[in-house]
Amino acid sequence: MSKESGTGGIQISHLSKTYLTRGRRTEALRDITLDIKSGEFIVLLGRSGCGKSTLLRMLGGLLSPSSGSITFDGKPLYDAQQKPDDGVLGSLGFVFQDANLLPWRTVSRNISLALEVQGVSAAQQRERAAQLAQSVGLQAFLDHLPKALSGGMQQRAAIARALAGNPDVLLMDEPFGALDALTRDDMNLMLQDIWLREKKTVVLVTHSITEAAFLADRVIVLSPHPGQIQRIVANPSPRPRSMADIKNTDYQSLISLLRKEIGEP
Ligand SMILES: Nc1ncnc2c1ncn2[C@@H]1O[C@H](COP(=O)(O)OP(=O)(O)OP(=O)(O)O)[C@@H](O)[C@H]1O
Ligand SMILES: [Mg+2]
Repeated sequence: MSKESGTGGIQISHLSKTYLTRGRRTEALRDITLDIKSGEFIVLLGRSGCGKSTLLRMLGGLLSPSSGSITFDGKPLYDAQQKPDDGVLGSLGFVFQDANLLPWRTVSRNISLALEVQGVSAAQQRERAAQLAQSVGLQAFLDHLPKALSGGMQQRAAIARALAGNPDVLLMDEPFGALDALTRDDMNLMLQDIWLREKKTVVLVTHSITEAAFLADRVIVLSPHPGQIQRIVANPSPRPRSMADIKNTDYQSLISLLRKEIGEP
C-alpha cells in the first residue's frame, strides 16, 4: 500500500528546545528551519548530544518545542497549548533503537497492533500483518514470539509494525544502532527497498556516516551545544544503491566531507 501522493511534507520553522530540569537549563536545539519534501529520505547526523533525538521526538509529538513550529502538509502538529494534534500523529510511524515488541504477542499480533486499536477485522489484520512480514523478510516467523527472534529480526518486526497504519512519515531513531555491521548492511538494503516501494517520507537519526551516505537524499549535519544545522549535504546518486557503490569515488568524497563536518579523522 503506498501513500497518497503529495502527503508527507514536513515544514520545520525556527524550532528550538531548552530543557528545564531541576532548575537547570540545557539548550538542546536552536533555530532549526528545514523543509522536507514529500517522499524525501532525510538523515540527521551528528555527534552524541547534538540534539538528534530531541528533534525527532518533537517531530513525533513526544516532546513539545520551546519555540517555533512544525507542520505536516501545512497542518500544525502542536496547538497553542503545545498539545499535539491526534490527526497529524496518526500519519506518523516511529521506530526506535530498541524494538520494544510486546513479549506476549506473536510477531503477527505485534505488527497488527495499530490495526487492532483501529477496530480492523481480525482477518484483515492477519492479512496485512502477513503482507508486511513478507516485505521485511519475516513471513516464516509470523507465529513466533519476539524472544525467538534475533535483534535484527526484532527490528524488522518493529519496522513492519510502524508501517501497519500506513503512515505518510516514518521517524527512525538509530533503528540499527544496536546491530552488528553485516546485519546493519542488510537492514539498510531492506529499508531502501521499502522506501522505494512505498515512497514514505523518512527522517532517520544515525551516528553512522556510511549509513547516512548510503540512505539519504539529504544529510542534515547538526553541530552540538546547542544543536544547529551546520550543513546540508545532498546525495543525488541514483537508486537502487548497492553496498558496492560505497567504494565509488562519489561516495568516498561524500563520506570524507561528512567526516570532516562532524570532526572525525
Ligand atoms: N530529558 C532531558 N532533560 C534534560 N536535558 C536533556 C534531556 N534529554 C536530552 N537532554 C540534553 O539535550 C541535549 C541533546 O540530547 P539528545 O538526546 O537530543 O542528543 P542526541 O543527538 O540524540 O544524542 P545521542 O547521539 O547520544 O543519542 C544533550 O545535551 C542532552 O544532555
Ligand atoms: Mg539520541
